[in-house]
Amino acid sequence: MSLIKIIDFKSLGDERGDLVSLEGNKDIPFDIKRVYYIFGTESSVSRGFHAHKNLQQVAICVKGSCKIILDDGNIREDVILNSPFKGLYINSMKWREMHDFSEDCVLMVLASSFYDEADYIRDYQEFIKIASYDS
Ligand code: TYD
Repeated sequence: MSLIKIIDFKSLGDERGDLVSLEGNKDIPFDIKRVYYIFGTESSVSRGFHAHKNLQQVAICVKGSCKIILDDGNIREDVILNSPFKGLYINSMKWREMHDFSEDCVLMVLASSFYDEADYIRDYQEFIKIASYDS
């Protein structure tokens, strides 16, 4: 089973240009509590390197491209995000690493909860331990 769950967004664009609208619990499979975006990351820089105990997220590359590695403690997959019409659903207990950012990349992330440092697992060995209890 693949870890990569891509959600396709409908284009509401017309001759004036493109438009995508995302509603919580409709287009996005949770209530959206927080939005953040990452940009200006050098292509040589990788970020993320954590999992969340409970948080669900959808990552959308609204401009440019980047790659996201997802790891559930069992399998590790790498996916390229390069379309504002596609969102990567990242469930809880998925280790993620973002890399290969294009210069113009803007990675927008929709999250199911407010920022909570206590929800983070930032140590890979600890993640593997917790993931193996869960499975
Ligand atoms: P960090 O989690 O290290 O980013 P990434 O996973 O992309 O490498 O976040 C960088 C800093 O920003 C860190 O001090 C936590 C803070 N932060 C918030 O305050 N709110 C947020 O919603 C996020 C995602 C991060």
